[in-house]
Amino acid sequence: MTLSRDVHHNFQDRVAQIQVQGLGLSVDVYSPDLFRLLADLTRRQVLPMYLEVFHATSSALAAVRDQTDVPLPYHGEGLWVTQPGAESDTLFQEEARVLASHLSLLRSAWSNHECATKHIAGYSFGTYLPPLYTASSADVVARNVNMVQAVFDQHAALPGGASPLFLLEMPPLTFFVAGTLSIPAYFRRVTDQAACGLVLDIGHLWTVYRYSGAWRRQPLERFLDDFLYEFPVERVVEIHIAGLAVHESLVGRAAIVTGETPDLLPRWTDAHAAPIPPVLFEMLDRILQCGRLENLRGMALEVDTKPTEHIANELAWFLEQYRQVFDQEVAQRSGEGRLPSPASSARLSIENDAELAESEVESLAMAYERYAQVVSGRAEAVGPNWAAPTACADELDWYRATYLPYEILHWGGDIEAMFPETCRELARRQIALETLVSYWFRLPHLVTRSYDFFDVKIDRCVEFVSEQASDLMALVQREAAELRLAYQAANEGPLQSMRPHL
Ligand SMILES: [Fe+2]
Repeated sequence: MTLSRDVHHNFQDRVAQIQVQGLGLSVDVYSPDLFRLLADLTRRQVLPMYLEVFHATSSALAAVRDQTDVPLPYHGEGLWVTQPGAESDTLFQEEARVLASHLSLLRSAWSNHECATKHIAGYSFGTYLPPLYTASSADVVARNVNMVQAVFDQHAALPGGASPLFLLEMPPLTFFVAGTLSIPAYFRRVTDQAACGLVLDIGHLWTVYRYSGAWRRQPLERFLDDFLYEFPVERVVEIHIAGLAVHESLVGRAAIVTGETPDLLPRWTDAHAAPIPPVLFEMLDRILQCGRLENLRGMALEVDTKPTEHIANELAWFLEQYRQVFDQEVAQRSGEGRLPSPASSARLSIENDAELAESEVESLAMAYERYAQVVSGRAEAVGPNWAAPTACADELDWYRATYLPYEILHWGGDIEAMFPETCRELARRQIALETLVSYWFRLPHLVTRSYDFFDVKIDRCVEFVSEQASDLMALVQREAAELRLAYQAANEGPLQSMRPHL
């Protein structure tokens, strides 16, 4: 078995080849339109030092590469590294190769991916679900990450001969957390077995404070210090800062906690369109002072879906406030050779021999199936994965009863707007659209192409109508075909699109 010391050396050799990227933006090609955003920023002379570009089609990415000279690290999507079975999943392997081709195209120093999934045991979700925070889940993530890094090594060489580095982002919590390991211990276990870097998203960390229940036990500063003590901070290559807000499905219903608790904390979730609250910069300042961010290469405001003017205002302030974080780094590193010594190059190969018994992987697959059932309201949140202090289901009902139905019916494509004529006919037959939610989670549904929630919505609606009102099949299929055509056209160009991400 690979020693964690070797894994650490492997990481050090890889990260040594990455230049400091500085202060940047994590953006989407389509939302807001990236070319218009760049034009606005240029006009205002508020210039990001790098752009981390979210997953898009090859042609859209090529257009971005042609448009700018700034470094373009990548934010991947749809590669579910948390899920068991990836080594025998041809779709996963194909996603990894496509990702490698995107990295080559953009000449990306890294590829960031959430340690999260939107598809569990055949059940589809619109926004990221965190992993089960258990030991075997961490082992599977490490093995999958090593597998993807090996694909990068083979298929995504950068101009200097190095490979892009896989970064794993700690995901947000959206009302609950499940598992038997603390989150920082989980990431420690992953990085002991995989030579990846990490992305620490400050807003995600706030949601950990909020939805792990830690906020009821300790002040934020104490939580941060405890978290950082256990978390592999030396693996953090990038920091994200993004907005937080009360989710649109909860507005007017549960903006804040009420009751006996004297300290009220808003019920915020990750929201990239929303303003960045000052508390996140207070957290960032404390993290920057911890003295262990030895491999930090960039800090980005994550601003997809945010109005351009707000992006420019936030970036101007951010550049002013944090420029000195990297000034010293850039000065120290200028003139240094960035390639590793021949001796260290020999260590760059990945030895993916994490010992995972088949029974362990099988029981993890079953645990994930149960996890999908619990969060979609078809099973009770009981058992070791739902026990305090590592798990917290205090607010799970907000997810099950409000957030998730909204996601299926409205978020990332409003069903009534997508299928207006079909929905009118369903209403005439007194078939309530809400029954789509229970239909959605009744049986698993295989996804056989690159994961896209909008595509999944189209497929599931057609299936739903075929079961509920088969005489409407011609109608729903016509509306589905029109949607697919319009969506494909929107994705092929740098146009406003219907594909939001978290
Ligand atoms: Fe992020």
